[in-house]
Amino acid sequence: MCGIVGYIGQKNTKEILLEGLKELEYRGYDSAGIAVLQDGDFTNYKAVGKLVNLEEKTKDFVTESFAVGIGHTRWATHGKPTELNAHPHLGESSYVVHNGIIENYASLKKELTQKGVTFLSQTDTEVIVHQFEKNLKNSPDTFEAFSKTIKELQGAYAILLVTKSEPDTIYFAKHGSPMLVGVNKENEKYFASSDTPLIGHCQKVNYFEDGDYGYVTPDETAIFSKNGTKKEPHFCELSQNKLSAQKNGFRFFMEKEIYEQREVIADTLMGRLSEDAILFDELESSLFEGIKEIKLCACGTSYHSALCASYLFERYSKIKTSVEIASEFRYRKPIMTKDTLFIVISQSGETADTLETLKMAKEAGLKTLVICNVDNSSMVRLAEASILTRAGIEKGVASTKAFATQVVVFWMLSLYLAKLTNALEKSEIAKQIALLREVPASCAVTDNMHERIKRLSKRYLHGHGFFFIGRDIFFPLALEGALKLKEISYLHAEGYPSGEMKHGPIALADPELFTIALLPQHLLYEKSKSNVEELSARDSTICAISPLEFDKADDFIPISTCRDYMLEFFEMMVVVQLLSLEISVRLGNDVDMPRNLAKSVTVE
Ligand code: M6R
Repeated sequence: MCGIVGYIGQKNTKEILLEGLKELEYRGYDSAGIAVLQDGDFTNYKAVGKLVNLEEKTKDFVTESFAVGIGHTRWATHGKPTELNAHPHLGESSYVVHNGIIENYASLKKELTQKGVTFLSQTDTEVIVHQFEKNLKNSPDTFEAFSKTIKELQGAYAILLVTKSEPDTIYFAKHGSPMLVGVNKENEKYFASSDTPLIGHCQKVNYFEDGDYGYVTPDETAIFSKNGTKKEPHFCELSQNKLSAQKNGFRFFMEKEIYEQREVIADTLMGRLSEDAILFDELESSLFEGIKEIKLCACGTSYHSALCASYLFERYSKIKTSVEIASEFRYRKPIMTKDTLFIVISQSGETADTLETLKMAKEAGLKTLVICNVDNSSMVRLAEASILTRAGIEKGVASTKAFATQVVVFWMLSLYLAKLTNALEKSEIAKQIALLREVPASCAVTDNMHERIKRLSKRYLHGHGFFFIGRDIFFPLALEGALKLKEISYLHAEGYPSGEMKHGPIALADPELFTIALLPQHLLYEKSKSNVEELSARDSTICAISPLEFDKADDFIPISTCRDYMLEFFEMMVVVQLLSLEISVRLGNDVDMPRNLAKSVTVE
């Protein structure tokens, strides 16, 4: 959550910081701020709301010579989204930006307040800069004061601090929240909480590890590990492809990402399919030795794809599978046995709760695998093995193409395991692989489909709620459809197994209750149809998504006639994504940056 940038160099510091924050704005956009130290003096600007407000405020601020600067875009945790709570936070002669949560901030704040320090904000972050300045008063050395401060903090953080006592230096610390530093031939130094702001500026980057802290000057990158030993920076090449991060003529990133699913799924499949086997070069077969069951753990949309995986693993690989919501799992003292393969799923690879469950599994000695979209992310670096989903940068806060590629990876993995466990005949695996090859085409958005959904969307802008219903693997798709709608339309929506309606939820049925019914031809069609008929008989307004015309529906969105339920799954996935998008557009909402949300949830 939140985005952090930092810069040391001769170029236009203000522009560099603002451009970097623009790249990270999807991570939080309650408020933003920058602090620049130039010729011995600080200049600081903050603004509530989106970054344009900060751009407007800083339009007359010029930075032309050597400067050191830090910036932040915020997603509020402690304290309301106000200017006073926006970062950077000021001490007497230092500024700090922080991503994460300082868990012991209340006790530190109490001690500092008793010593006469005045706090301006309600944030946990402000204690960092005051604690540092308190330590600096008792120490001749700035880095010593910073190191002491870091050791006094508990919680998760990525921190940048600048101070007048060392005007060419940025101090940093990372524990639990992502951060990297980049360098270039012009001897500039760039910091950020993800690599996108550095693309085009740096060729080489060092991803900090948990516990790393240190300082960076124009001539030195000094990194210390948790135990205080100095370590060599580990610089690696930064990919320079930024094209995929632009809108390509679509109205919204989310729309572009829905349309892109066809290509990214083709990328996800590339090199991984042979006639009758799935090839995951990144996996050692030893990862599965002695494994009797699989546990999947994730949050949000990734949790829904994990639920899809559980149907596929049990059906095709014949391996007992359970799925957990990461924020629940981490605190319920779960039983973890070494014959369980622990799989975490995350688009970002940084979600705090999911990351924590991965650490728990590792500590318990389980074999671990991550399905992730971001190479070098914290989870990829931590897990024993990883499969990358190859969805490309996903900018819309509402996840679409990441979900699609996750489900594709799980389908492939279920067949890979089926081969290892001899759970499926060779011919059946070959049949499934042939189906997998058809998925990109199933995800293509046709003009007809999009136009029809656009037109229908105007009938679904009110009412007292939506039920998305489906059976089997279409149940997690129903959950995902409901989540998409909630996130960007702010309308109340729930996903339900179709067969569960009569056990309570059907009491809500009336014409103002909208049911989005997923009716695949190739999986439990008759049973699902009866469930929808029950709702129709109680006058719920029904929108059926199916290849088969359904006369009890008020609205009907046809999908093409496919030869397997999984192909129907992907077509329906596109339909529910577009439906949410068009409803949100008609309601005038910010599709890509919906209220109260952030792209990467690196706080618990
Ligand atoms: O990066 P992750 O996949 O770990 O993120 C998990 C959730 O925060 C994420 O899927 C969230 O639910 C999205 N906003 C869904 O659109």
